[in-house]
Amino acid sequence: PEHISHRRLPTRHRFYADLSQCLFDFVIELLPTGEEMAVKENVRKLLERLIRTIEPESRLLSFGSTANGFSLRNSDMDLCCLIDSEERLSATDLVTMLGDLLERETKFHVKPLPHARIPIVKLSLDPSPGLPLGIACDIGFENRLALENTRLLMCYAMIDPTRVRTLVLFLKVWSKRRKINSPYKGTLSSYGYVLLVIYFLVHVKNPPVLPNLQQMPPLRPITKEDTHLAGYNTWFFDDIELLRTRWHSENTESVAELLIDFFRYYARDFSYNTGVASIRAGLLKKSTKGWQNDLSSGRYNDSRERNRLCIEDPFELDFNVGRCVTKDGIYTIRGEFMRASRILANRPERAVVALAELCM
Ligand code: GTP
Ligand code: MG
Repeated sequence: PEHISHRRLPTRHRFYADLSQCLFDFVIELLPTGEEMAVKENVRKLLERLIRTIEPESRLLSFGSTANGFSLRNSDMDLCCLIDSEERLSATDLVTMLGDLLERETKFHVKPLPHARIPIVKLSLDPSPGLPLGIACDIGFENRLALENTRLLMCYAMIDPTRVRTLVLFLKVWSKRRKINSPYKGTLSSYGYVLLVIYFLVHVKNPPVLPNLQQMPPLRPITKEDTHLAGYNTWFFDDIELLRTRWHSENTESVAELLIDFFRYYARDFSYNTGVASIRAGLLKKSTKGWQNDLSSGRYNDSRERNRLCIEDPFELDFNVGRCVTKDGIYTIRGEFMRASRILANRPERAVVALAELCM
């Protein structure tokens, strides 16, 4: 009846406004300080100088959260070494040599992993007065696809910084606090959660909050050489200044409404059994990608285990970013989406209490 919906409407809107404000305040507290970012940039420069004593033609670039605008305080640093000369050492040799050098010349704890699938050097620095929580850093080599997917996520963040960054950063904190952000233990990487958010904003929300940067018409003709990297098409519309003049979202929902809807969608509506979330192409089918996880799909328990949650990498189309999620992992993650959805659906009196409970 009329009188009920009238009474409920303002309360609901007040709740959304309160919750949105709480989300902004919550996230701002967790951003890295200017000092932290300066220290990290100095570390990158120092490491680059040292690497150049081995490979003079090299550059050390940051990727991942330090470079895409989704960084929280004390998040680790992902660095990628690019070598521009034709003749260069193998990644394995470089990792071994760099490991020795850093051990000799710096105070970092150094752990070279020259024989890993992707050879890296892991570094960490103990806490000190200027750096109360220390630093953790991975250096990889020639990972140009990671640099490009970092740039793609950064462009998405720039289109609607307030809504996109608030949602992503909140979900990163939430997934860490709820312990569902450990790919090594069968749950999902931060990268995977960011892709779920973008997929939701591009393909689920109607009208969409974000355009599909990989499907926009290019400004000028592009050739295969310009756009392909290691056999993968990495083209996307990256002129965000221009995009702002040409495209704007019809979607005016607040961050709170989007968050509530995000949880509801992944608790209830996403087709985990048959669907693949692709930010490039929308909802795809596991069967068309050959990513089934039903019993008939193969003899290996392992391969079924790998496709419980399917998230297509934006460029490496044959790569499932959710491959690390196990049967238990997906059960736990979905359970967490349901829990979050339930807490927010109750619209508790005070939004700040709801947030605290969400992340408890
Ligand atoms: P935090 O470290 O939790 O702050 O998050 P992050 O944004 O740095 O994400 P994460 O450490 O999960 O990934 C860092 C970067 O590595 C991503 O931005 C990607 O570029 C790359 N990356 C991570 N996981 C994958 C993966 O499974 N496939 C590919 N292709 N790249 C990945
Ligand atoms: Mg990282």
